[in-house]
Parts: sequence; structure tokens; C-alpha cells
Amino acid sequence: MQSIKEKIQSVANSQDLEKLKVEVVGKKGILTLAFADLKNLNGEAKQSRAKELNLFKQDFEALFEAKKGEIRTLELAQKLQEENIDVSLFVGQRRGKEHYVNLMIEKIIDYFIALNFELCEGGLVEDDFHNFEALNIPKFHPARDMQDTFYTQDGKLLRTHTSPVQIHVMKKKTPPLKIIAPGAVFRRDYDLTHSPMFHQVEGLVVDSYGKVGFSHLKLILEDFLKYIFGDIVVRFRSSFFPFTEPSAEVDISCVFCKGDGCRVCSHTGWLEVLGCGIVNHAVFESVGYKDVSGYAFGLGVERFAMLYYGINDLRSFFEADLRVIG
Ligand code: DAH
Repeated sequence: MQSIKEKIQSVANSQDLEKLKVEVVGKKGILTLAFADLKNLNGEAKQSRAKELNLFKQDFEALFEAKKGEIRTLELAQKLQEENIDVSLFVGQRRGKEHYVNLMIEKIIDYFIALNFELCEGGLVEDDFHNFEALNIPKFHPARDMQDTFYTQDGKLLRTHTSPVQIHVMKKKTPPLKIIAPGAVFRRDYDLTHSPMFHQVEGLVVDSYGKVGFSHLKLILEDFLKYIFGDIVVRFRSSFFPFTEPSAEVDISCVFCKGDGCRVCSHTGWLEVLGCGIVNHAVFESVGYKDVSGYAFGLGVERFAMLYYGINDLRSFFEADLRVIG
């Protein structure tokens, strides 16, 4: 008994304690065998041996339970210690990064700020005059359709492009002026390549009549696109916008296949990246400007960011894709 007691005292974990229990009261345990041996005894000897064994058993059980409790407390403390999370522990800081759309806006405006363009911002809610009328977008133009524009109940609308900033600025200031206006725009469009909210950057240059023309526009946009996309070829394609005349769309050689043709450029070798033109005189008239010339351009920021950062799904800008927004 003494040695068993000592053994129990020295046990340090629940597995060893269970093992010891088996050694004592298991099928072939010493106590079980000792009880079995009683059959070889008789009379008083048997009685006193049985009493002795029962006492031993009681002692053992008491010691066992006490030890079991002790070990359980110990093991629980150990487990808590191991699983403890020190929330105050400094493990290095994971900083978020700026959204690619904002990075791209900054990159774009950096270029124009360096050329003394003034940074302007307009409101997101516009009226028909600033968003359409003053920009020479006629009443029957499809852009005014309820399908394309979000109208508010009080007859206002969410701007469908950044061009209305041109109107606000021209109404407030006198030429010459050079402005760059980034911001969110809204259209009732939603599919793989269209989002109801996206971003544009608008540019406008106005000076006295004849002082700025298409050659300036061409020079600056070509240089700007090379600043953003590096070693590319730029081409101007004749196009139409109500607020510019003449108008052009600008393509760059595909940044992925270098013009050979791939899936991104629909095997044309070219990517359309912005719209531009010489400001239509109807626009100047709507703000009361006389004897001026100007050029304007507009671009989609998400498109620039997708091409520049190699992002192939427009939706990743607006969903919780941490590679893009994290
Ligand atoms: N506002 C046009 C659009 O949303 C983009 C644009 C084209 C702006 C030509 C301009 C421009 O200033 O000259 O599609």
C-alpha cells in the first residue's frame, strides 16, 4: 500500500493516473488479484485479509479521487495558459493600403497638377441643365433616358459623367482656365464590365480664341498616356460627343500584348482609353463665354486602373477583394 500511495503522489498527469488505476483495480490489477486470492484462505485469516483489502481499496479510491481533482485543476490551468491570447501583444502592424482607384486618381492628377491645372470637384447630385443641357446634350439623347440615368424624386439626378464640372467652373470663373476634375459618376448599368458607380477624370482647358487647338490636346494627351502606361503607341480616332466638335476617341496599343492582339484588346491590338475634343461653341454659349477656344477630355478611372494594375474583373474594385482594396 505504501508504495502505491507513493506512486499516486508522484503521478503528474491524467494518463499516468489512469494507468495506475488499471495496475491496481483493473482486471489483472494487484487488488483485483488479491481479492481473487481470498478464496485460498479460510476463517479468520480470510476475514482479516478481506478487511485489510477493503480498507486498502477505500484508501486507494480516496487518494485516486483527490489526485484526479488535483491533476484536473493543474491541466486546466496549463491549457488556459497555452491558449491564452494576449490581445495587447504587438505582433507587427498590418497596414491597409489605398484603393487602386484612388491611387490611379492621384497618379492622374499628379500629372496635370504639375502642368498647373487646377483641381476641381463638383457635387454628385446634379440638375438636368449642368449634366445635359449646358453640355449640348439634346432632350432626345439616349443618355437622358431613365434606363441610363438615376433621377431623384425632386427632378434632380446623379451625375452620369464628370463633364458638368466644366459648366460649374466656367460659370464661376473667367478664362483662361485649366482644370482637372476627378470623381464618382453614376449610371443605371450593371454587368460584368459596368458598375452603377464608377469614377471619371475630366479635363478642360479654355483660353482666348485661337490660343488652344487640337494640336495642344493631342500633344498633352499623348504625353499623359505615355506617362501612365509607358512605352505605348497612341492613336486618335474621329468620334462624336455633343459637347465637343471635332471629337475623338483615343486608343493606346494594348499594354498586355503590345499590339499583337489578345483577349483583353479583343484581338485588335488597341485599347480605347478616353474621349476628347475641341469644346463645342454651344457649350461656351450656355455659360456666356465669348471669343474663347478650348479642349476637353474625359476618362474612366477603373479602366485605367485595370490596365495599369492588371486587374481583370471590374467587380473586384467594389467587392471585398482585399488584394485590391485591403
Ligand atoms: N463625358 C464623356 C463620357 O462620360 C467623356 C468625355 C468625352 C468627356 C469627351 C469630355 C470629352 O470632356 O471631351 O462618356
